Amino acid sequence: MTELKLPVIVVNFKVYSEVEGQGALRLAKECERAAGEHKASFAVCPPMVELSKVASSVTIPVLSQHVDARSPGSITGHVSPQSVKAAGAVGTLINHSEHRMAMPDIAIAVKMCREQGLISIVCTDSSETSVAVAAYGPDFIAVEPPELIGGDISVTTADPQIVSRTVELVKKVDPKVKVLCGAGVKNGADVKAALRLGASGVLLASGVVKAKDVKAVLKDLVSGL
Ligand code: G3P
Repeated sequence: MTELKLPVIVVNFKVYSEVEGQGALRLAKECERAAGEHKASFAVCPPMVELSKVASSVTIPVLSQHVDARSPGSITGHVSPQSVKAAGAVGTLINHSEHRMAMPDIAIAVKMCREQGLISIVCTDSSETSVAVAAYGPDFIAVEPPELIGGDISVTTADPQIVSRTVELVKKVDPKVKVLCGAGVKNGADVKAALRLGASGVLLASGVVKAKDVKAVLKDLVSGL
């Protein structure tokens, strides 16, 4: 299984208009360039419809934004772990705040990803949910308070305890599960704070996707590693 080099900056492109069509590949190329230039670990989650194109065009790890806990077959509109692997993704987000899943489905999706050799990053909204999810043995848990997502105040400033507490509690359940944090992460100082709180990296979106000067933002983010 491909592993993410730690600490890692995971950029979720979401489905913002900036990353429609060629925009997704353009942004992925910027992240690839920043990874090479600054010797930093980046992973990107392009919109689902651009997954295959981006995965075949960049050398940095490409992750799916979602998988369903469904096997290949008559599952119209669903996304099987097998299909994202075939598209070139090395892993996937699961249960993003904007694409929640039932707990039993999260457990199945994590297991299916493991069987496929896909990296699983399960998003959670609290330390308590993180503890429950840690028992499923994902590779990563990304804790993100929903109310801070898309805002200008980083989780590391608004609620640093949620990060340190999640790191501490998840370690007790399964020390192999790494914790990322996200929501409002915008700059190198936020990244530095996340690592100081015990996170293995950050998951962010708007700070990069909506940036006027993407190069400058990526450079700044890396300064916190
Ligand atoms: O997936 C990352 C995300 O939910 C955080 O979004 O825009 O607050 O960085 P943002």
